[in-house]
Amino acid sequence: MSVRRLAEDQVQPAIFAFNDENSVWAEATIRKYPAGRQQSAVIPLLMRAQEQDGWVTRAAIEFVAGKLDMPYIRVLEVATFYTQFQLKPVGTRAHIQVCGTTPCMLRGAEDLMKVCQHKIHHDPFALNADGTLSWEEVECQGACVNAPMVIIFKDAYEDLTPERLEEIIDAFEAGKGHEIKPGPQIDRIFSAPEGGPQTLNDEIKPVRTNLDPHPSAEEAAAAASVPPADAARPKDTAAETNPSLKTPATAPAASAANAKAAEAQPLSATAKSKPAPKTPGSAVEGAPPEPGAVSGDLKPKRTRRKTTTEGES
Ligand code: FES
Repeated sequence: MSVRRLAEDQVQPAIFAFNDENSVWAEATIRKYPAGRQQSAVIPLLMRAQEQDGWVTRAAIEFVAGKLDMPYIRVLEVATFYTQFQLKPVGTRAHIQVCGTTPCMLRGAEDLMKVCQHKIHHDPFALNADGTLSWEEVECQGACVNAPMVIIFKDAYEDLTPERLEEIIDAFEAGKGHEIKPGPQIDRIFSAPEGGPQTLNDEIKPVRTNLDPHPSAEEAAAAASVPPADAARPKDTAAETNPSLKTPATAPAASAANAKAAEAQPLSATAKSKPAPKTPGSAVEGAPPEPGAVSGDLKPKRTRRKTTTEGES
């Protein structure tokens, strides 16, 4: 991993400003974020500045900080963290970022870097003779399954061999980089197996589906031959609950006797009895106490022993 610092002062321009088209775009981009969250536009604005000038200058970082009312150091942190931001002038036609993390290294990233050293320059970030190409080593770009790979601007070129990378570099140098298809450079789609699917290739025909309400006699026979599933079936036929643990059923005769006794019971004693005496706290004499009312003597009982005074025994 290379140290990411701003370019030397002698190559830094004094000022930066978006051109008219990018100014309109920047204002529209900032408006996408809720009030008070405009600083979230820092990455798109830095990327637009890079696309305008080819790299992120110190003046551009200061400009974006001012535009978003952010401390300069915060924008500098973002610009120096992501390797997608170029902090010094790079090749005008291609800056090749070779992934050098373990999966790509195990699959031949070192040979890809040798190609870059041979075709561009021995040192990373150094421009070729025409100033059109440059390269660097970067950390994992998230395409390990298609290692080894490189990033050129916003596109990834995967499943590379040294020979294929040479062809790609030649195409970009000739200004024909757009003719190269990004992604895997072998016969596969994304990260699918090379040459097409390698498993589950047999045609599996369902015995019966809801879309086929009238199965043929052959299919019906095949379906009938499928034994029922045993899932969730008890393993034996013993009673699932110990009978002694069950609530005993009330005998019918006892049940009828209970019902008769309930009918013969006099009405509620409350209805027949005299009004209840007034209780302290009741609003009306004879009325039942309010829910939560306290009845009886409210005087607290003494719970502490009387303090012994001088002279008392
Ligand atoms: S290690 Fe190279 S893309 Fe992840």
